[in-house]
Amino acid sequence: MSSLAELNSLEADGLASLAGCADEAALRVWSTQHFGDKGLMKAALGAIGKIAKEERAAYGQEANRVKVALETAYAAKFAEAKEAALQASLNSNPLDVTLPGRTRPRGRLHPATQILRQIYGIFADMGFQVYRTREVETDEMNFEHLNMPAHHPARDMWDTFFTTTPGVILRTHTSPGQIHVMREQHPNPIRVILPGMCYRNEAISTRSEIQFHQVEGLAIGEGITMADLKGTITSFARRMFGPERQVRIRSSYFPFTEPSIEVDIDWPKDDPNRDRLTKGTGWLEIMGAGMVHPNVLKAGGYDPDKVTGFAFGMGPQRMLMLKHAIDDIRLFWQNDLRFLRQF
Ligand code: DAH
Repeated sequence: MSSLAELNSLEADGLASLAGCADEAALRVWSTQHFGDKGLMKAALGAIGKIAKEERAAYGQEANRVKVALETAYAAKFAEAKEAALQASLNSNPLDVTLPGRTRPRGRLHPATQILRQIYGIFADMGFQVYRTREVETDEMNFEHLNMPAHHPARDMWDTFFTTTPGVILRTHTSPGQIHVMREQHPNPIRVILPGMCYRNEAISTRSEIQFHQVEGLAIGEGITMADLKGTITSFARRMFGPERQVRIRSSYFPFTEPSIEVDIDWPKDDPNRDRLTKGTGWLEIMGAGMVHPNVLKAGGYDPDKVTGFAFGMGPQRMLMLKHAIDDIRLFWQNDLRFLRQF
């Protein structure tokens, strides 16, 4: 490769063989032949050293012109081949670009998860940490350490699922979690909520399920009083239900608190099912609460002469019913999409 004539035939042959390339694969082979490391163009440019000095400049210029000419022709041919391939594929497999796309169904959080997160948020603002405890408990934790020895009549308040292992049950409430936290944290102050699933061997109805969530709360420290409990609960209820809803606090009885209270929220006045769902009272109970009983403090490792505390146990499903006037607690675990999609 040493003359201008040879360069010209490289160009002419190159363009001719390029015109004969039928598809992308042939074009790639052509490209390697001409522009590859061992290709014709490289050889032509490499030969410049062997050209007589006086012809070198002209040869170099011409070589570059040929290179650009071949590159340009190749690019045009390649684009043409691509377009032809696309057209062929569209013709053989027609695509209707006017068809609507397939929508992907959007998931969402279960209403129970939504309300739990809302509860965590409100209590987090008041300085409560979330603490998880087990769903399978011992009789000791679920009852005895909560001031209910064997055969205590108050045990009748919780219809229990037993396991085949004696003394092992499904927790009937989140209250045994109180003992777990206290034993881990004593003698330090505590401010926690304990959410989770509870189980009761009850007849299923619009108001009772055999499984449901509770969120337990526990605050322990020096000088904690009933006023702190009432303040905490009312500010919680105000944020959860809004300032226009009413909160009612009644005295009550639980073995693990003294004194004990129950907290009600008024059912939406304009709901036609109000009477049926509140047994004619207009109120729905959302939690039990009280000042932690000295025996429970002792079971948790605290000295009841030094510290006091309050506790509560609330039902998030009940609260959802109140918020949205839901008339049947069974809807929560039936997984009927017509219900779930409304949240
Ligand atoms: N554990 C009780 C229940 O399931 C609710 C409850 C009442 C929890 C009073 C408490 C409390 O922490 O102080 O019915």
